[in-house]
Amino acid sequence: MKSVKKVELHLHVEGAAPPGLIRALAAEKHQDLGGIFDERGGYSYKGFKDFLRVYEAACSVLTTPRDYARLVSDVLAECAEQGAIHVELFVSPEFCGGADLSAWRDYLAAMEEVAGVAERQGISSRAVLTAIRHLGPDRARKTALCAAETMGPWVAGFGIGGGEDAGELPDFAWSFDCAREAGLGLTAHAGEWRGPESIRDALALGVTRIGHGIRAVEDPQLVRDLAERGITLEICPGSNVALGIVPSWSAHPIARLADAGVRVTVSTDDPPFFRTSLSHEYQRLADAFGWAEAEFRQMNLWAVDAAFCDETTKTRLR
Ligand code: ADE
Ligand code: ZN
Repeated sequence: MKSVKKVELHLHVEGAAPPGLIRALAAEKHQDLGGIFDERGGYSYKGFKDFLRVYEAACSVLTTPRDYARLVSDVLAECAEQGAIHVELFVSPEFCGGADLSAWRDYLAAMEEVAGVAERQGISSRAVLTAIRHLGPDRARKTALCAAETMGPWVAGFGIGGGEDAGELPDFAWSFDCAREAGLGLTAHAGEWRGPESIRDALALGVTRIGHGIRAVEDPQLVRDLAERGITLEICPGSNVALGIVPSWSAHPIARLADAGVRVTVSTDDPPFFRTSLSHEYQRLADAFGWAEAEFRQMNLWAVDAAFCDETTKTRLR
């Protein structure tokens, strides 16, 4: 599946950090990360809460713009290896100096430089600045301000991830309004851990894409609305299986949503945490649902339509 040209809309840059890079940075900085790795060197956690703990521990070694430049460079190289031609990287300014605007500008400059190098080598990317829901609405505003102030060729979107059980999405309306007024594309994690109401709350914020959104399948009217409005789901099947939201690949709702006319796309979320890769996701979907080139081509066209990049880039991607 590596040869299929892919567009990935939902990849957390911190969650894509190779364990080897995190270990190397920890060693260079003499930082003890505790027991976040298993005996084979991969990330080790039990359940979503623990996943978030290990994720944040891994991020604690990413302390400088140079660290983020190394990270983005490694992540985009791996994406290209997987056959990706465009990736929308979810970046959380909270991990880049606490979403302080002046610190964020330094991190951004370092990332933009390596993203430019990768783009010249054939893989384009954009950043979707991602607030962390369990840190609350006030902290999310800081991320929205970073996004609004640095919107530009690379910073193209604003979104929210983290614990979906924390607070209510309408409490984050100020941040989404701020980002929309600045001209950013909007997405939100919803319908991953919580049901259809959570997806409706995300739609009310004005998003055009939903991170995961798979629990829409529980509400036929919502499925029809998503299909009619052309809302794109950034589906990460391996993430959902690894975190136990869905019991198996063959039980994943992605096929039912696609059959109902919803614009489904395929992403990896946090690949090393879920022992997956973009090609692996495609292969598992092909095995589970008999999908082949034509189905994947359609999904990638939907991904291009929903991407937050400019029209010139979209034309190249099609
Ligand atoms: N941040 C990184 N991965 C996530 C996920 N699967 N859900 C919510 N927030 C996340
Ligand atoms: Zn995610």
